[in-house]
Amino acid sequence: MAKDQMKMCFILGTRPEIIKFFSVMNAAVANTEVNPVFIHTGQHYDYEMSQSFLEELKLPKMDYFLNVQSGTHSNQTANLLTTIERTLLLEKPDVVLVLGDTNTTLAGALSAAKLRIPIAHVEAGCRSFDYDMPEEINRLAVDAISSIYYAPSEVAALNLLSEGKPKNRVFLAGNTIVDIVHETQEIRSAIRFDSEIGEAAPVLVTLHRQENVDDKTRLSELLRALSEIKEKVVFPIHPRTKKRIEEFKLTEFVDNIPNLRLVKPQKYLTFMKLLEKAKVVITDSGGVQEEAIIVGTPCVTARDTTEWPETVWAGGNHLAGRSAPRIAELCNQLLEDAEDPTQTTKWRNPFQGNAGPTIIQTLVTLWKDEELWPQKLDMSQGKYPLPWLVEVDADLEGEFLTNVEFDKEGRGVIGNKQQAVRRIIRWSKAENRVRNH
Ligand code: UD1
Ligand code: UDP
Repeated sequence: MAKDQMKMCFILGTRPEIIKFFSVMNAAVANTEVNPVFIHTGQHYDYEMSQSFLEELKLPKMDYFLNVQSGTHSNQTANLLTTIERTLLLEKPDVVLVLGDTNTTLAGALSAAKLRIPIAHVEAGCRSFDYDMPEEINRLAVDAISSIYYAPSEVAALNLLSEGKPKNRVFLAGNTIVDIVHETQEIRSAIRFDSEIGEAAPVLVTLHRQENVDDKTRLSELLRALSEIKEKVVFPIHPRTKKRIEEFKLTEFVDNIPNLRLVKPQKYLTFMKLLEKAKVVITDSGGVQEEAIIVGTPCVTARDTTEWPETVWAGGNHLAGRSAPRIAELCNQLLEDAEDPTQTTKWRNPFQGNAGPTIIQTLVTLWKDEELWPQKLDMSQGKYPLPWLVEVDADLEGEFLTNVEFDKEGRGVIGNKQQAVRRIIRWSKAENRVRNH
Protein backbone atom coordinates (compact mmCIF):
# COMPACT_ATOMS: atom_id res chain seq x y z
CA MET A 1 0.00 0.00 0.00
CA ALA A 2 1.31 3.45 -0.89
CA LYS A 3 2.33 5.60 2.06
CA ASP A 4 0.39 8.82 2.46
CA GLN A 5 3.31 10.84 3.82
CA MET A 6 6.85 11.31 2.62
CA LYS A 7 9.43 11.02 5.40
CA MET A 8 12.17 13.67 5.08
CA CYS A 9 15.19 13.72 7.37
CA PHE A 10 16.80 17.15 7.70
CA ILE A 11 20.43 16.97 8.83
CA LEU A 12 21.89 20.19 10.22
CA GLY A 13 24.36 21.17 12.90
CA THR A 14 25.91 24.60 12.42
CA ARG A 15 24.76 28.21 12.59
CA PRO A 16 24.41 28.78 8.81
CA GLU A 17 22.55 25.49 8.31
CA ILE A 18 19.97 26.41 10.96
CA ILE A 19 19.48 29.85 9.38
CA LYS A 20 19.42 28.71 5.77
CA PHE A 21 17.12 25.74 6.44
CA PHE A 22 14.56 28.04 8.16
CA SER A 23 12.15 28.38 5.23
CA VAL A 24 12.61 24.77 4.07
CA MET A 25 11.87 23.38 7.55
CA ASN A 26 8.80 25.62 7.89
CA ALA A 27 7.54 24.57 4.45
CA ALA A 28 7.99 20.88 5.37
CA VAL A 29 6.01 21.31 8.60
CA ALA A 30 3.24 23.13 6.74
CA ASN A 31 2.86 20.40 4.10
CA THR A 32 0.46 17.63 5.17
CA GLU A 33 2.04 15.19 2.73
CA VAL A 34 5.37 15.47 4.55
CA ASN A 35 6.55 13.82 7.76
CA PRO A 36 9.68 15.81 8.65
CA VAL A 37 12.35 14.54 11.07
CA PHE A 38 14.93 17.06 12.31
CA ILE A 39 18.41 15.80 13.20
CA HIS A 40 20.78 18.31 14.83
CA THR A 41 24.31 16.91 14.89
CA GLY A 42 25.62 19.29 17.57
CA GLN A 43 28.61 20.38 15.46
CA HIS A 44 27.84 23.82 16.91
CA TYR A 45 26.83 23.59 20.55
CA ASP A 46 27.38 26.95 22.30
CA TYR A 47 24.04 28.58 23.12
CA GLU A 48 24.92 31.56 20.87
CA MET A 49 25.85 29.31 17.91
CA SER A 50 22.77 27.09 17.92
CA GLN A 51 19.98 27.15 20.51
CA SER A 52 19.59 30.94 20.33
CA PHE A 53 18.56 30.60 16.65
CA LEU A 54 16.18 27.69 17.26
CA GLU A 55 14.43 29.76 19.93
CA GLU A 56 14.45 33.20 18.31
CA LEU A 57 13.33 31.93 14.91
CA LYS A 58 10.73 29.61 16.50
CA LEU A 59 12.01 26.68 14.50
CA PRO A 60 10.39 23.26 14.82
CA LYS A 61 11.60 21.12 17.73
CA MET A 62 14.63 19.01 16.84
CA ASP A 63 13.86 15.27 17.05
CA TYR A 64 17.50 14.36 17.70
CA PHE A 65 20.54 16.14 19.15
CA LEU A 66 23.57 13.99 18.36
CA ASN A 67 25.98 16.09 20.44
CA VAL A 68 29.00 15.43 18.20
CA GLN A 69 30.82 18.71 19.01
CA SER A 70 34.32 19.65 17.80
CA GLY A 71 37.40 17.73 16.67
CA THR A 72 39.90 17.53 13.85
CA HIS A 73 38.21 17.25 10.45
CA SER A 74 38.49 13.47 10.27
CA ASN A 75 37.68 12.89 13.90
CA GLN A 76 34.62 15.13 13.77
CA THR A 77 33.46 13.65 10.44
CA ALA A 78 33.93 10.11 11.75
CA ASN A 79 31.81 10.85 14.83
CA LEU A 80 29.21 12.51 12.63
CA LEU A 81 29.10 9.49 10.31
CA THR A 82 28.58 6.98 13.11
CA THR A 83 25.86 8.90 14.91
CA ILE A 84 24.02 9.96 11.76
CA GLU A 85 24.06 6.41 10.38
CA ARG A 86 22.55 5.09 13.62
CA THR A 87 19.77 7.67 13.43
CA LEU A 88 19.01 7.08 9.76
CA LEU A 89 18.80 3.33 10.38
CA LEU A 90 16.12 4.04 12.99
CA GLU A 91 14.19 6.53 10.89
CA LYS A 92 14.46 4.98 7.39
CA PRO A 93 13.49 8.20 5.56
CA ASP A 94 12.46 8.50 1.91
CA VAL A 95 14.98 11.29 1.43
CA VAL A 96 17.74 13.08 3.36
CA LEU A 97 18.14 16.86 3.05
CA VAL A 98 21.53 18.46 3.63
CA LEU A 99 22.53 22.07 3.03
CA GLY A 100 25.73 23.81 2.02
CA ASP A 101 29.26 22.70 2.74
CA THR A 102 30.02 21.88 6.38
CA ASN A 103 31.33 18.63 7.85
CA THR A 104 27.74 17.95 8.97
CA THR A 105 26.66 18.28 5.32
CA LEU A 106 29.39 15.90 4.16
CA ALA A 107 28.74 13.28 6.82
CA GLY A 108 24.95 13.53 6.41
CA ALA A 109 25.26 12.94 2.69
CA LEU A 110 27.82 10.15 2.98
CA SER A 111 25.84 8.26 5.65
CA ALA A 112 22.72 8.48 3.49
CA ALA A 113 24.56 7.43 0.34
CA LYS A 114 25.94 4.30 2.02
CA LEU A 115 22.44 3.40 3.23
CA ARG A 116 21.08 4.01 -0.28
CA ILE A 117 18.82 6.85 0.82
CA PRO A 118 18.46 9.56 -1.85
CA ILE A 119 20.09 12.89 -0.99
CA ALA A 120 18.65 16.31 -1.78
CA HIS A 121 21.45 18.88 -1.60
CA VAL A 122 20.20 22.38 -0.88
CA GLU A 123 22.66 25.04 -2.04
CA ALA A 124 24.23 22.64 -4.52
CA GLY A 125 26.72 23.69 -7.18
CA CYS A 126 28.45 26.58 -5.35
CA ARG A 127 32.15 26.57 -6.19
CA SER A 128 35.07 28.72 -5.05
CA PHE A 129 37.55 26.53 -7.01
CA ASP A 130 39.84 26.87 -4.00
CA TYR A 131 40.80 23.39 -2.87
CA ASP A 132 42.56 24.74 0.22
CA MET A 133 39.11 25.39 1.69
CA PRO A 134 37.65 22.43 3.58
CA GLU A 135 34.25 23.66 2.44
CA GLU A 136 35.16 23.27 -1.27
CA ILE A 137 36.08 19.62 -0.66
CA ASN A 138 32.75 19.12 1.10
CA ARG A 139 30.78 20.79 -1.71
CA LEU A 140 32.43 18.63 -4.37
CA ALA A 141 32.05 15.43 -2.37
CA VAL A 142 28.38 16.04 -1.54
CA ASP A 143 27.49 16.95 -5.12
CA ALA A 144 29.26 13.81 -6.34
CA ILE A 145 26.82 11.58 -4.43
CA SER A 146 23.60 13.59 -4.34
CA SER A 147 20.53 12.61 -6.24
CA ILE A 148 18.64 15.93 -6.37
CA TYR A 149 20.37 19.31 -6.66
CA TYR A 150 18.80 22.57 -5.49
CA ALA A 151 20.97 25.26 -7.06
CA PRO A 152 20.64 28.68 -5.37
CA SER A 153 21.66 30.63 -8.49
CA GLU A 154 22.16 30.28 -12.22
CA VAL A 155 25.93 30.14 -11.75
CA ALA A 156 25.56 27.24 -9.34
CA ALA A 157 23.25 25.41 -11.78
CA LEU A 158 25.75 25.93 -14.61
CA ASN A 159 28.58 24.59 -12.44
CA LEU A 160 26.57 21.43 -11.84
CA LEU A 161 25.73 21.01 -15.53
CA SER A 162 29.31 21.59 -16.58
CA GLU A 163 30.34 18.82 -14.16
CA GLY A 164 27.99 16.51 -16.02
CA LYS A 165 25.04 16.35 -13.61
CA PRO A 166 21.92 15.28 -15.49
CA LYS A 167 19.82 18.29 -16.40
CA ASN A 168 16.61 16.80 -14.97
CA ARG A 169 18.21 16.42 -11.50
CA VAL A 170 19.15 20.12 -11.20
CA PHE A 171 16.50 22.52 -9.90
CA LEU A 172 16.92 26.28 -9.87
CA ALA A 173 14.94 26.59 -6.67
CA GLY A 174 15.90 30.04 -5.43
CA ASN A 175 18.12 30.90 -2.50
CA THR A 176 16.82 30.03 0.97
CA ILE A 177 18.62 32.99 2.55
CA VAL A 178 16.38 35.38 0.59
CA ASP A 179 13.41 33.73 2.30
CA ILE A 180 14.67 34.30 5.84
CA VAL A 181 15.88 37.83 5.15
CA HIS A 182 12.47 38.79 3.75
CA GLU A 183 10.34 36.83 6.21
CA THR A 184 12.05 38.38 9.25
CA GLN A 185 12.09 41.93 7.89
CA GLU A 186 9.13 43.14 9.90
CA ILE A 187 10.17 41.64 13.26
CA ARG A 188 13.71 42.96 12.76
CA SER A 189 12.46 46.51 12.72
CA ALA A 190 11.20 46.10 16.31
CA ILE A 191 14.55 44.77 17.63
CA ARG A 192 16.41 46.92 20.18
CA PHE A 193 20.15 46.48 20.75
CA ASP A 194 21.15 45.25 24.21
CA SER A 195 23.65 47.10 26.41
CA GLU A 196 26.63 45.12 25.03
CA ILE A 197 25.95 46.48 21.53
CA GLY A 198 24.58 49.89 22.45
CA GLU A 199 24.28 51.38 18.99
CA ALA A 200 25.16 50.07 15.53
CA ALA A 201 28.73 50.75 14.36
CA PRO A 202 29.51 52.02 10.83
CA VAL A 203 31.57 48.87 10.20
CA LEU A 204 30.51 45.30 11.00
CA VAL A 205 33.05 42.47 10.91
CA THR A 206 32.86 38.67 10.96
CA LEU A 207 35.91 36.44 10.41
CA HIS A 208 36.04 32.72 11.09
CA ARG A 209 37.48 30.84 8.09
CA GLN A 210 40.16 28.33 8.93
CA GLU A 211 42.52 29.85 6.33
CA ASN A 212 42.12 33.32 7.90
CA VAL A 213 42.14 32.66 11.62
CA ASP A 214 44.14 29.47 12.19
CA ASP A 215 47.40 31.06 11.03
CA LYS A 216 48.94 33.53 13.50
CA THR A 217 50.54 35.78 10.88
CA ARG A 218 47.38 36.01 8.79
CA LEU A 219 45.16 36.65 11.80
CA SER A 220 47.55 39.36 13.11
CA GLU A 221 47.55 41.05 9.70
CA LEU A 222 43.77 40.99 9.57
CA LEU A 223 43.47 42.52 13.04
CA ARG A 224 46.02 45.18 12.11
CA ALA A 225 43.91 46.01 9.04
CA LEU A 226 40.89 46.53 11.31
CA SER A 227 42.92 49.01 13.38
CA GLU A 228 43.45 51.10 10.22
CA ILE A 229 39.75 51.60 9.59
CA LYS A 230 38.69 55.21 10.07
CA GLU A 231 35.42 54.49 11.87
CA LYS A 232 34.12 52.33 14.70
CA VAL A 233 34.08 48.60 14.14
CA VAL A 234 31.91 46.00 15.87
CA PHE A 235 33.01 42.37 15.59
CA PRO A 236 30.71 39.58 16.84
CA ILE A 237 33.33 36.95 17.36
CA HIS A 238 33.02 33.34 16.24
CA PRO A 239 34.26 30.81 18.88
CA ARG A 240 37.01 29.53 16.55
CA THR A 241 38.40 33.07 16.18
CA LYS A 242 38.09 33.79 19.91
CA LYS A 243 40.00 30.62 20.69
CA ARG A 244 42.78 31.49 18.21
CA ILE A 245 43.16 35.06 19.50
CA GLU A 246 43.70 33.64 22.98
CA GLU A 247 45.99 30.83 21.80
CA PHE A 248 48.16 33.21 19.71
CA LYS A 249 48.34 35.65 22.65
CA LEU A 250 46.74 38.43 20.64
CA THR A 251 44.20 39.44 23.31
CA GLU A 252 46.18 42.45 24.51
CA PHE A 253 46.80 43.59 20.93
CA VAL A 254 43.06 43.41 20.20
CA ASP A 255 42.15 45.19 23.45
CA ASN A 256 44.43 48.07 22.44
CA ILE A 257 42.76 48.73 19.08
CA PRO A 258 40.71 51.82 20.01
CA ASN A 259 38.11 51.65 17.20
CA LEU A 260 37.43 47.89 17.60
CA ARG A 261 34.86 46.25 19.87
CA LEU A 262 34.58 42.49 20.13
CA VAL A 263 31.17 41.18 21.17
CA LYS A 264 29.75 37.67 21.51
CA PRO A 265 28.05 36.02 18.49
CA GLN A 266 24.73 37.78 18.02
CA LYS A 267 21.21 36.46 17.60
CA TYR A 268 20.05 36.44 13.99
CA LEU A 269 17.68 39.41 14.13
CA THR A 270 20.20 41.57 16.00
CA PHE A 271 22.98 40.61 13.61
CA MET A 272 20.82 41.44 10.59
CA LYS A 273 19.90 44.79 12.09
CA LEU A 274 23.61 45.53 12.62
CA LEU A 275 24.21 44.57 8.99
CA GLU A 276 21.40 46.77 7.67
CA LYS A 277 22.60 49.75 9.69
CA ALA A 278 26.31 49.31 8.84
CA LYS A 279 27.87 51.41 6.09
CA VAL A 280 30.28 48.56 5.28
CA VAL A 281 30.62 44.92 6.30
CA ILE A 282 33.94 43.05 6.26
CA THR A 283 33.56 39.30 6.25
CA ASP A 284 34.82 35.91 5.15
CA SER A 285 31.41 34.31 5.72
CA GLY A 286 29.45 32.88 2.83
CA GLY A 287 26.05 33.74 4.32
CA VAL A 288 27.01 37.30 5.20
CA GLN A 289 28.17 38.00 1.60
CA GLU A 290 24.71 36.94 0.42
CA GLU A 291 22.81 38.87 3.09
CA ALA A 292 24.84 42.03 2.46
CA ILE A 293 23.79 42.21 -1.18
CA ILE A 294 20.17 41.45 -0.31
CA VAL A 295 19.91 44.29 2.24
CA GLY A 296 22.16 46.66 0.26
CA THR A 297 25.22 46.98 2.53
CA PRO A 298 28.58 47.18 0.68
CA CYS A 299 30.72 44.15 1.47
CA VAL A 300 34.50 43.63 1.59
CA THR A 301 35.31 39.93 1.49
CA ALA A 302 38.57 39.00 3.21
CA ARG A 303 39.31 36.19 0.78
CA ASP A 304 40.70 35.77 -2.72
CA THR A 305 37.85 33.61 -4.02
CA THR A 306 34.13 33.36 -3.43
CA GLU A 307 31.48 30.72 -4.04
CA TRP A 308 29.06 33.64 -4.53
CA PRO A 309 30.58 35.36 -7.64
CA GLU A 310 27.25 36.90 -8.60
CA THR A 311 27.53 39.24 -5.60
CA VAL A 312 30.84 40.55 -7.02
CA TRP A 313 29.47 40.81 -10.57
CA ALA A 314 26.44 42.74 -9.26
CA GLY A 315 28.83 45.33 -7.79
CA GLY A 316 28.06 44.96 -4.08
CA ASN A 317 30.89 42.67 -3.00
CA HIS A 318 34.61 43.49 -3.20
CA LEU A 319 37.16 40.69 -2.94
CA ALA A 320 40.19 41.97 -1.04
CA GLY A 321 42.43 39.06 -2.09
CA ARG A 322 45.29 37.91 0.14
CA SER A 323 46.38 41.43 1.03
CA ALA A 324 45.19 42.43 4.51
CA PRO A 325 46.03 46.17 4.04
CA ARG A 326 43.74 46.11 0.98
CA ILE A 327 40.84 45.34 3.33
CA ALA A 328 41.30 48.60 5.23
CA GLU A 329 41.89 50.49 1.96
CA LEU A 330 38.66 49.16 0.40
CA CYS A 331 36.67 49.70 3.59
CA ASN A 332 37.86 53.31 4.01
CA GLN A 333 37.02 54.02 0.37
CA LEU A 334 33.53 52.57 0.76
CA LEU A 335 33.02 54.62 3.94
CA GLU A 336 33.91 57.75 1.99
CA ASP A 337 31.60 56.74 -0.85
CA ALA A 338 28.78 56.27 1.66
CA GLU A 339 29.03 59.99 2.52
CA ASP A 340 28.92 61.02 -1.13
CA PRO A 341 25.45 60.66 -2.66
CA THR A 342 26.89 60.72 -6.21
CA GLN A 343 29.07 57.69 -5.42
CA THR A 344 26.40 55.43 -3.94
CA THR A 345 24.86 53.16 -6.50
CA LYS A 346 22.24 50.59 -5.78
CA TRP A 347 22.88 47.14 -7.11
CA ARG A 348 20.43 44.44 -8.00
CA ASN A 349 20.01 41.48 -5.65
CA PRO A 350 21.04 38.57 -7.91
CA PHE A 351 19.12 35.95 -5.88
CA GLN A 352 15.51 34.74 -6.05
CA GLY A 353 13.41 33.73 -3.06
CA ASN A 354 10.53 31.33 -2.31
CA ALA A 355 13.07 28.53 -2.18
CA GLY A 356 11.64 26.70 0.88
CA PRO A 357 8.17 25.93 -0.57
CA THR A 358 9.66 25.20 -4.02
CA ILE A 359 12.10 22.65 -2.58
CA ILE A 360 9.45 20.83 -0.56
CA GLN A 361 6.93 20.82 -3.41
CA THR A 362 9.38 19.43 -5.99
CA LEU A 363 10.51 16.74 -3.54
CA VAL A 364 6.93 15.61 -2.91
CA THR A 365 6.32 15.47 -6.67
CA LEU A 366 9.50 13.44 -7.27
CA TRP A 367 8.45 11.06 -4.48
CA LYS A 368 4.97 10.58 -5.94
CA ASP A 369 6.42 10.02 -9.40
CA GLU A 370 9.00 7.61 -7.93
CA GLU A 371 11.82 9.76 -9.29
CA LEU A 372 13.87 10.40 -6.15
CA TRP A 373 16.65 8.44 -7.82
CA PRO A 374 18.06 9.22 -11.25
CA GLN A 375 17.29 6.66 -13.92
CA LYS A 376 19.47 3.55 -13.72
CA LEU A 377 21.72 2.78 -16.63
CA ASP A 378 21.71 -0.47 -18.51
CA MET A 379 25.04 -0.72 -20.30
CA SER A 380 24.09 -4.06 -21.78
CA GLN A 381 22.06 -1.97 -24.23
CA GLY A 382 25.18 -0.02 -25.21
CA LYS A 383 24.23 3.08 -23.23
CA TYR A 384 26.96 5.22 -21.72
CA PRO A 385 26.45 8.68 -20.18
CA LEU A 386 28.29 11.17 -22.37
CA PRO A 387 29.09 14.66 -21.15
CA TRP A 388 26.57 16.99 -22.74
CA LEU A 389 28.18 20.28 -21.80
CA VAL A 390 31.58 20.69 -23.40
CA GLU A 391 33.80 23.43 -24.72
CA VAL A 392 34.13 23.43 -28.50
CA ASP A 393 35.28 25.73 -31.25
CA ALA A 394 32.50 27.65 -32.92
CA ASP A 395 32.96 25.75 -36.16
CA LEU A 396 32.25 22.47 -34.36
CA GLU A 397 28.62 23.35 -33.76
CA GLY A 398 26.45 20.59 -35.09
CA GLU A 399 29.44 18.31 -35.75
CA PHE A 400 29.13 14.60 -35.25
CA LEU A 401 30.36 13.67 -31.80
CA THR A 402 32.64 11.02 -33.22
CA ASN A 403 34.55 13.77 -35.07
CA VAL A 404 35.38 15.64 -31.86
CA GLU A 405 38.57 14.72 -30.08
CA PHE A 406 38.34 14.90 -26.32
CA ASP A 407 41.09 15.69 -23.91
CA LYS A 408 41.54 14.02 -20.51
CA GLU A 409 38.82 16.21 -18.93
CA GLY A 410 36.32 15.25 -21.59
CA ARG A 411 36.35 18.63 -23.34
CA GLY A 412 36.33 18.99 -27.09
CA VAL A 413 39.71 20.43 -28.04
CA ILE A 414 39.85 20.36 -31.82
CA GLY A 415 40.90 23.61 -33.46
CA ASN A 416 42.51 26.72 -32.12
CA LYS A 417 42.00 26.62 -28.37
CA GLN A 418 42.69 30.33 -28.02
CA GLN A 419 39.62 31.09 -30.09
CA ALA A 420 37.45 28.41 -28.53
CA VAL A 421 34.07 29.70 -27.45
CA ARG A 422 32.05 28.15 -24.73
CA ARG A 423 28.96 26.52 -26.13
CA ILE A 424 26.44 24.27 -24.57
CA ILE A 425 26.05 21.37 -26.92
CA ARG A 426 23.80 18.41 -26.58
CA TRP A 427 24.07 14.88 -27.80
CA SER A 428 21.02 14.05 -29.83
CA LYS A 429 20.27 10.37 -29.55
CA ALA A 430 17.75 10.46 -32.36
CA GLU A 431 20.11 12.10 -34.83
CA ASN A 432 23.30 10.60 -33.44
CA ARG A 433 24.99 13.98 -33.55
CA VAL A 434 25.88 16.91 -31.36
CA ARG A 435 23.20 19.55 -31.37
CA ASN A 436 23.64 23.12 -30.38
CA HIS A 437 21.58 23.92 -27.27
C1 UD1 B 1 32.04 25.40 10.48
C2 UD1 B 1 32.09 25.01 9.01
C3 UD1 B 1 32.20 26.24 8.14
C4 UD1 B 1 31.11 27.24 8.47
C5 UD1 B 1 31.10 27.52 9.96
C6 UD1 B 1 29.92 28.38 10.29
C7 UD1 B 1 33.18 22.85 8.57
C8 UD1 B 1 34.38 22.22 8.00
N1 UD1 B 1 33.26 24.19 8.71
O1 UD1 B 1 33.29 26.02 10.78
O2 UD1 B 1 32.07 25.88 6.77
O3 UD1 B 1 31.36 28.42 7.76
O4 UD1 B 1 30.98 26.28 10.69
O5 UD1 B 1 30.09 29.07 11.47
O6 UD1 B 1 32.21 22.22 8.87
N2 UD1 B 1 33.49 26.02 18.68
C9 UD1 B 1 33.00 26.34 19.94
N3 UD1 B 1 31.66 26.27 20.10
C10 UD1 B 1 30.78 25.92 19.14
C11 UD1 B 1 31.32 25.60 17.86
C12 UD1 B 1 32.67 25.66 17.66
O7 UD1 B 1 33.74 26.67 20.86
O8 UD1 B 1 29.57 25.90 19.38
C13 UD1 B 1 34.96 26.15 18.47
C14 UD1 B 1 35.72 24.88 18.78
O9 UD1 B 1 36.93 25.26 19.34
C15 UD1 B 1 35.96 24.28 17.43
C16 UD1 B 1 36.06 25.48 16.53
O10 UD1 B 1 35.19 26.45 17.10
O11 UD1 B 1 37.11 23.49 17.39
C17 UD1 B 1 35.67 25.22 15.09
O12 UD1 B 1 34.36 24.65 15.02
P1 UD1 B 1 33.95 23.73 13.77
O13 UD1 B 1 32.52 23.39 13.86
O14 UD1 B 1 34.89 22.61 13.64
O15 UD1 B 1 34.23 24.65 12.54
P2 UD1 B 1 33.77 26.14 12.26
O16 UD1 B 1 34.97 27.01 12.22
O17 UD1 B 1 32.68 26.51 13.20
N1 UDP C 1 25.21 35.43 12.01
C1 UDP C 1 24.49 35.66 13.18
N2 UDP C 1 25.15 36.21 14.24
C2 UDP C 1 26.46 36.54 14.20
C3 UDP C 1 27.19 36.29 13.02
C4 UDP C 1 26.55 35.74 11.93
O1 UDP C 1 23.30 35.38 13.23
O2 UDP C 1 26.98 37.03 15.20
C5 UDP C 1 24.53 34.79 10.86
C6 UDP C 1 24.56 35.57 9.58
O3 UDP C 1 23.48 36.46 9.50
C7 UDP C 1 24.49 34.48 8.53
C8 UDP C 1 25.12 33.29 9.20
O4 UDP C 1 25.21 33.60 10.57
O5 UDP C 1 23.16 34.14 8.21
C9 UDP C 1 26.49 33.03 8.63
O6 UDP C 1 27.12 32.03 9.38
P1 UDP C 1 28.68 31.84 9.38
O7 UDP C 1 29.34 33.09 8.98
O8 UDP C 1 29.02 31.26 10.70
O9 UDP C 1 28.89 30.69 8.30
P2 UDP C 1 29.07 30.68 6.71
O10 UDP C 1 27.91 31.38 6.11
O11 UDP C 1 30.38 31.32 6.39
O12 UDP C 1 29.11 29.24 6.40
